[in-house]
Amino acid sequence: MTFETLKTDVINILADNLTTKEKLQHICNHLKANVKHYHWVGFYFKNGDKDELKLGPFAGKPTEHAIIPFGKGICGQVAVSQENYVVQDVSEQDNYISCGFEIKSEIVIPFFVNNKNIGQLDIDSHSTAPFTDADEVFLESVCDEISKLDFSAIL
Ligand code: SME
Repeated sequence: MTFETLKTDVINILADNLTTKEKLQHICNHLKANVKHYHWVGFYFKNGDKDELKLGPFAGKPTEHAIIPFGKGICGQVAVSQENYVVQDVSEQDNYISCGFEIKSEIVIPFFVNNKNIGQLDIDSHSTAPFTDADEVFLESVCDEISKLDFSAIL
């Protein structure tokens, strides 16, 4: 499935009569099922006033990392930098939180509501160096669409 098709699917999911949580869950399931190098797809959100991330909807193997302090791991670093982070080979990273030996790479895209970073989309892959600029452009566009949701029930 092309990213273009998937983008249309995401827009359609967001237009469905579902809660924000259900829409995010559906998007995780859909991306994981249709992009062959996406093996874990999930959302982390800033946990209230705390400088930590809290796991939201995800598709893939359950993780024990439901809470991640700002600065820790790839996700925690993105919470601080508020910039995309593409890690093509996690074995080269010192500040990395492993979610299993099978994970070889990771991409994290932050998203913003009213210019405030409220969370991030995190994707793990079993392949080394699977991510291209096209993934980044696509996932940024997904995050742009997601940021239009009502997060009041989640944050
Ligand atoms: N690998 C992440 C931890 C979260 S999992 O990928 C689900 C990190 O280093 O922040």
